Amino acid sequence: MSVAEAKISWINGPVLRASTSDTFRINEAALVGRQQLLGEVIRIDTRELVIQVYEDTTGLRPGDPVLGTGSALSVKLGPGLLGNIFDGLLRPLSGEGQYVEPGAKQTRAAQTYAFHPTVKPGDRLTQGAVFGAVNRPDARAQRCLLPPDCAGEVISVAQPGDYAEDYPVCVLRGRGDQVREVAMSHRWPVRTPRPVAQRIPVEGPLFTGQRVLDTMFPLGCGGRAAMPGGFGTGKTILQETLAKWCDAEVIVYVGCGERGNEMAGVLHEFPQLDDPHTGRPLMERTVIIANTSNMPVAAREASIYTAVTVGEYFRDQGMRVALMADSTSRWAEALREVSGRLGELPGEAGYPAYLSSRQADFYERAAHVRTLDGHLGSLSIIGAVSPPSADFSEPVTTHTKRYVRCFWALDPARAQARFYPAVHPLQSYSQDLEVLREFWTQHGNPQWTEQRRRFLGLLEEQARLERMARIVGKDALPPRQQQVLLCAELINEAFLRQSAFSTIDRFCSPERQIAMMQTLVRFIDLSEAALAQQVDMAELATLPLLRRLRRMGEDIGDEQLDQFDALRRDMEAAFIQLAKRGVADAG
Ligand SMILES: Nc1ncnc2c1ncn2[C@@H]1O[C@H](COP(=O)(O)OP(=O)(O)OP(=O)(O)O)[C@@H](O)[C@H]1O
Ligand SMILES: [Mg+2]
Repeated sequence: MSVAEAKISWINGPVLRASTSDTFRINEAALVGRQQLLGEVIRIDTRELVIQVYEDTTGLRPGDPVLGTGSALSVKLGPGLLGNIFDGLLRPLSGEGQYVEPGAKQTRAAQTYAFHPTVKPGDRLTQGAVFGAVNRPDARAQRCLLPPDCAGEVISVAQPGDYAEDYPVCVLRGRGDQVREVAMSHRWPVRTPRPVAQRIPVEGPLFTGQRVLDTMFPLGCGGRAAMPGGFGTGKTILQETLAKWCDAEVIVYVGCGERGNEMAGVLHEFPQLDDPHTGRPLMERTVIIANTSNMPVAAREASIYTAVTVGEYFRDQGMRVALMADSTSRWAEALREVSGRLGELPGEAGYPAYLSSRQADFYERAAHVRTLDGHLGSLSIIGAVSPPSADFSEPVTTHTKRYVRCFWALDPARAQARFYPAVHPLQSYSQDLEVLREFWTQHGNPQWTEQRRRFLGLLEEQARLERMARIVGKDALPPRQQQVLLCAELINEAFLRQSAFSTIDRFCSPERQIAMMQTLVRFIDLSEAALAQQVDMAELATLPLLRRLRRMGEDIGDEQLDQFDALRRDMEAAFIQLAKRGVADAG
């Protein structure tokens, strides 16, 4: 087949026009210029193509050639992904250098992987079936999948041994006796969702070990969450905390247009960390896709889809996958820049009119599924959003809100007070509460829904009262209101606040979250009873025990849950003392 050709006629940064009399297709990958830079056909007008180029276009000239590839922009999915760092088109970045040679191909050919067949000649395989396993000493076990468009009877399969990821380890006879060779890796177009047998409703949470998320605004496994927050509100730290602690089996972390030095933090830190659940290096379950602000802007646009495609690939192996994207706003800005250079009519805040549908394309690929091979798998997506001036009414945040089920709003005031995670309890929400009630019941707290609601009620009342307290002074408020403020302050300090840097508190098990919640609920009950017995609120507010309550997250670890019982007993004794003194004073 002859290769379709075109000639560059106009260049504007990452976009160019090329004239042709050959046939190209929309979204076809193209090789641009003498260096064969990777690009994608994004529009076709009669004899002219519009192409966005994913690499630096410096040096390209009108008249330079463009070659078609005949296939959509795609990435190679295989056993070499885990533990490595890639650019937005899944080309390996060497550890230090955030640099890829112009025109570099996505190759990792030199390396071999230990393949174990799980099928034998004569077996009939359906699309997406598992035909082997890959064991790497430095990464979690993986499965080899038939590409979703390939099925048939096994003619031959390789003996266990080490093979390159492109080596045809399995040969199939498909429909019409067509013979097809299959390797451990295969390509998949990034803009096309990988097919599944069935999308199924969310069952349990993506557990994160962060109280303000799991207890207050939990995310279903296979769900989608957004984390909007202004400059410096802790988005990156929270994303990294989730990447380290959430109970996913594979993490895909896409740093999208963030400053190079921030990304460098992830690039340097992650390879040195251990997975808290297994004690193995964290990178064994992680794929990092880095597209910093100094990399070509169009590649940033693609990196989000590359990341989702990688996530789906592991989901299709029957794994729980979590994808963190930091930040989707930088991605939207890339979209805006490319659109601007094309001279498209700008919409809200200069973003193209298709911003919303592109965001939907991304978030809707999160799912809890039955894979083509019959396993359960999930892909959860957590996108950070950085609205300019922390204004949540700007287009990227408002559109995101339409597609996510969890909204974790980061609050500049909290961040400024160094209250982390700065998730605002009154601006955030989760729509998965009903299904996740079962999780908390199973872990021993059937009252979770009511207790959570009680916490939120107190926090709401606090927000109202604080305005008044600022005017009249806290001490002038009636005792009942002082009691509300005290309880709400405790909920904030002792429960919602959680340091990412504390060895004991950076992760909080479900059992400890319950113990802490119930300790606070007990305090609230006791303080209400004390109120009825007309205990002096000023005295209550100075109980030495409050200090222990505020510090319980830092002081009592996951292995010392019985200490919460002791704390509760001491608390009850303290209240009895208070009441006695109250009676004595009254007498
Ligand atoms: N959970 C946390 N515990 C302790 N400190 C935190 C926490 N989260 C954020 N911080 C502090 O806040 C600073 C800014 O956090 P971070 O870089 O995550 O913000 P950001 O929202 O990603 O900022 P930007 O808008 O620049 O991307 C951190 O350097 C750290 O000092
Ligand atoms: Mg950041």
